[in-house]
Amino acid sequence: MSELFRIDDSRMPLRLGSALRVPSYAYPNWGIPLGAYRIESDTTYTSEWREGSPRQMQYVIDAVLEAGFGNNSQILRDSCARVVAQEVRTLSENPAIRGRINCMDIGAGVSTINIFDAIDDNYKGRVFFTLVEPSEKRAEDAASKLSEKGLNRGKDYKVIVAPDQHLLALVKPESQDIVSYVATLHHHSYIDTPVKTVYVTMKKGRRMLVVSDWHNPEWEHPNRVYKALKEDFDAEEFNWETKEQDLKAFAEAYPKALEKAPELSPLDHASYMQIRKFWQGYARVRKKAIKAGEFDENDDILMLEAHIPVERQNDILRKAGFTLYPRFHEDSNRKDTVKDNPEQLLVDSRLLMTTVAYKQ
Ligand SMILES: C[S@@+](CC[C@H](N)C(=O)[O-])C[C@H]1O[C@@H](n2cnc3c(N)ncnc32)[C@H](O)[C@@H]1O
Repeated sequence: MSELFRIDDSRMPLRLGSALRVPSYAYPNWGIPLGAYRIESDTTYTSEWREGSPRQMQYVIDAVLEAGFGNNSQILRDSCARVVAQEVRTLSENPAIRGRINCMDIGAGVSTINIFDAIDDNYKGRVFFTLVEPSEKRAEDAASKLSEKGLNRGKDYKVIVAPDQHLLALVKPESQDIVSYVATLHHHSYIDTPVKTVYVTMKKGRRMLVVSDWHNPEWEHPNRVYKALKEDFDAEEFNWETKEQDLKAFAEAYPKALEKAPELSPLDHASYMQIRKFWQGYARVRKKAIKAGEFDENDDILMLEAHIPVERQNDILRKAGFTLYPRFHEDSNRKDTVKDNPEQLLVDSRLLMTTVAYKQ
């Protein structure tokens, strides 16, 4: 293995990356000691996302569409934008809250623009945005869109090119009113560090964290990944001549691959099957781009990920100090907009969820 806990994935229809990228609580299933490799696991994510261009995000959307879903990326963004816009209204209308409302979007991008657009025109001027994003290209792309909409850099928004785990060196403690994460918090095996970091950056007094993210249980157990590799990637379609050898190498590196994984609830099973479809879709998009000579390795995304079922995530939020109510009002002026918390965004699975948490 050239990288820790990584098999040779160079001949596969998609790159797996290191098993250090799976959720930290599942490490023992992958032969990794519980609690180990905290720093190393973050490195495996930072190198994946730092160099990527806006095309890297486009590949995610293309893969989602290829898999036959609606635009899941946009469903997450729209959900988050609605919740943040409502919270901006609530804070703006509170006479005890004066001055700018500081909104920080972590993993900034189209989500930040969607948040800005969703905010009522009467309150747009109240907000100061902080865009946090490790890819300079993507951060600047979002910044230039905000400038095109008339916002002034420095006066109405600022850009921080860094990953969230470094935020305390760059953002004042107790400075943020609203923090949002769209499809980004899952970029850590250990999410307790970023979640605690974000908690410190937020003001006290019922300030809101919104997390709209992908959730699924595939990465908890190597058998779930093994089955996906075996069943979803036809050797002929993907020109995967070494399929048998590669699967053997996978099972040797992660012996639990050949054991049965624990049963899943029907909704989690549905999310598992849907994320499998996503990766099959991505492999098709990737193959097409390679064939057309357009594929830049820096835009590649790696299969092993730290998506976790939403209850796991929310336990970690609670441990960091956040309060989660079982329901939230999406629009305080309308009685019909009470949502479950976390809110399930697809009818048939728990793949896409929005969670609202407060720092009291
Ligand atoms: C799937 S994209 C979502 C982007 C944006 N929120 C949107 O919905 O348009 C995930 C983003 O998270 C960023 N990212 C990855 N690791 C991060 C980290 N540790 N801190 C902050 N952002 C990170 C990536 O660079 C990428 O832009």
